[in-house]
Amino acid sequence: MKQEVYNNIETWFNSYVAGFENEIEEIKSNINLKRNHSFRVANLIKELGEESGLDESDVILAQISALLHDVGRFEQLTKFGTFSDTEEINHIQLGISTITENNILSELTEEEANMVIESIRNHNESLLPKSIDPKLLPFCQILRDADKIDILHVVSDYYSNNKQGSNKRLEMELSDKPEISKKLYQSIIDEKHVDFKDVLTLNDLKLYQMSLIFDLKYKKSFKIVSEKTYLKQIFETLPKKDLVIDMYRQMKIYLENHL
Ligand SMILES: [Fe+2]
Repeated sequence: MKQEVYNNIETWFNSYVAGFENEIEEIKSNINLKRNHSFRVANLIKELGEESGLDESDVILAQISALLHDVGRFEQLTKFGTFSDTEEINHIQLGISTITENNILSELTEEEANMVIESIRNHNESLLPKSIDPKLLPFCQILRDADKIDILHVVSDYYSNNKQGSNKRLEMELSDKPEISKKLYQSIIDEKHVDFKDVLTLNDLKLYQMSLIFDLKYKKSFKIVSEKTYLKQIFETLPKKDLVIDMYRQMKIYLENHL
């Protein structure tokens, strides 16, 4: 995979996103947010590349998946006004259709294009299928780690520096009630991936996002999350209830044990 191919796809991506220019401030800032997220995820791929075992050319291929992994978010936001995925409106399906319809991967071989599509398809799944092609596996893992690291970056920054309610889309339209989901608590204490169905309030969402660390694969990913103090920043915006403190402690220990 040549750098030039990546550059051409980047050019397409920039003009595609520019097409979503919008007067409404909230939409404008969310488009920028997703655009910048895509570029940061592509950069994180480089940082994680060495540990993933992918060679230089495959890292570029993984960066293409990274740049395009959330391409469906722009249509989802502007057409449907949400970042919440449902069975009918799903940013992954929208993204894959956009990539196919616009023929974005025409410079790639069929096998390369398949790696890109399949890693995008799996980037948000709670678990990777057990029967996954071993060749595809590192492409999926590197994208999943890079995406989660940057989600933690985006949300820790948002919760720490913005008035609550200022970006309803990013808060997934959840209400700020004091309750914490019991199922979510149990999953975190068991160091298990939290099912998004158990996220009922904004506090649940924050804890769910912190729990993304249970899905990280690479040592380097844990290192970045730890150095950037993402968990601490989010914890500081949560009510200091015993349950919350228990969960934070559990996640902090998990993170430290994986450094
Ligand atoms: Fe993403």
